[in-house]
Amino acid sequence: MAKTLIVYGSTTGNTETTAIEIGNVLGKEGHEVVLQDVSKSKVEDLGNGYDLTLLGSSTWGDDEIEFQEDFASFFEEMDNADLKDKKVAVFGCGDSTYTYFCGAVDELQAKVESLGGKVVVESLKIDGDPGDVTDEIVGWAQEVAAAL
Ligand SMILES: Cc1cc2nc3c(=O)[nH]c(=O)nc-3n(C[C@H](O)[C@H](O)[C@H](O)COP(=O)(O)O)c2cc1C
Repeated sequence: MAKTLIVYGSTTGNTETTAIEIGNVLGKEGHEVVLQDVSKSKVEDLGNGYDLTLLGSSTWGDDEIEFQEDFASFFEEMDNADLKDKKVAVFGCGDSTYTYFCGAVDELQAKVESLGGKVVVESLKIDGDPGDVTDEIVGWAQEVAAAL
């Protein structure tokens, strides 16, 4: 059974809702899923004993990209994560009216790649309310499951 860690940061609950939906799909696909709020996570957990690691953050800021407030310090420490050759997927919520739509997702993906992690599917960027795009989230999670 594949073991999957999902670490998410969410201020108003949108990325959390997305993470839960993804976790439900992966569970149905037979994964053992550990779902963790980033504020309760350690970078050392990433990839450690997991077949797949999912990272999710919303984007804040205005003129510049800011991570979700709990995710910001975690991101700063990510150079200590052993993600080399580990399978990873990235997701997050944002709003396309901002200059850097889901900029945190792009920065997370770049960080994972710089650490030698393998991003297994195109990153998921949710524009607005994730409740409006459940099918997209389910489809993406199924793609992630199939990429293992
Ligand atoms: C002050 C403020 C700044 C924001 N900046 C961005 C941004 O730069 N890029 C973006 O895609 N979304 C931006 N957003 C939208 C949020 O990322 C979006 O509401 C998201 O769904 C929040 O997810 P969360 O509830 O998981 O934290 C911003 C929202 C606010 C209120």
